[in-house]
Amino acid sequence: MRMPTELHLHLEGTLEPEMTFRLAEQNRLDLPWRDPDELRARFDFTDLQSFLDLYTMSQEVLRTGEDFHALTDAYLARAAAAGVRHAEVSLDLQAHTGRGVRAAEVLDGVTSALQAAPGRHGLSAGLIVTVLRHLPGEAALATVREVVESGYPVLGLGLCSTELTAHARDFVEAFDLARAHGLHLTAHAGEEGPPQNVTGVLDHLRVERVDHGVRACGDPALVARLVAQRIPLTVCPVSNLRLRVVDALHEHPLRRMLDSGVMVTLNSDDPAYFGGYLDEVTDRTAEALDLGEEHLSTLARNGIDAAWVEESRRRELH
Ligand code: ADE
Ligand code: ZN
Repeated sequence: MRMPTELHLHLEGTLEPEMTFRLAEQNRLDLPWRDPDELRARFDFTDLQSFLDLYTMSQEVLRTGEDFHALTDAYLARAAAAGVRHAEVSLDLQAHTGRGVRAAEVLDGVTSALQAAPGRHGLSAGLIVTVLRHLPGEAALATVREVVESGYPVLGLGLCSTELTAHARDFVEAFDLARAHGLHLTAHAGEEGPPQNVTGVLDHLRVERVDHGVRACGDPALVARLVAQRIPLTVCPVSNLRLRVVDALHEHPLRRMLDSGVMVTLNSDDPAYFGGYLDEVTDRTAEALDLGEEHLSTLARNGIDAAWVEESRRRELH
């Protein structure tokens, strides 16, 4: 079975080494690796930060609106081939403006590719701008202000990067401003951080979904809350394996959480780095956790119910 939606996907995490080298040549940049194979050989991560360091370094090659358009279009083609019919993709806008690329250039490239998705690839797609947790709350607020004033079609606001430093409280103003402008809200939490981080983004940022959230399974009261409030978790088992959140895929809590009634959805996170787009993630997860048709149907249904789409589109996806 194929998943009809992908709700947790970082566009920068779809940058395949071949494209990194092509863009470096186009933009006349030197890379510290000899070729795509040498870069790919570095994809052996010990934790989230070791991944973020390489992910941040590779993004340097993304310089123009056309680069962002090409990156987005390549992901959409691959997602369509994986059977995805609706994608909500995240973009670390601050990572690009912070190194001198204009927000309008980035947003223009990404949103033009997303808008062309139904005609070109047969899937609908929306954009989530993610603010970075390792940067100050004031920077997140300035980014949200810039995004809402820009007029580009943005579906939601997210929060990502390391969970081990700032508190969710630091981002309240940014999330309040986004909510006031009608943006949907999500945040990474409970990936490498404790269950309290999940509670933090629910209580302080009032998010509608939680990205990852797998560490919530260590807190039965929190699991009960997620079930009662039907809060979707966008879970990424292969990412969790590759970033050593779990030691083995068969030990991943996804199946236990599903069986407890948590609204779990299945996603790829950063597929170029973790060796698997959503079709591959689905197959590997189903095999490792011995998921049957019923579990897979529930995951697919949850993905559609958790998507930020109009009800008419939701009915089509179902
Ligand atoms: N940015 C890209 N991938 C991420 C992840 N798995 N966790 C936090 N921030 C990220
Ligand atoms: Zn993520």
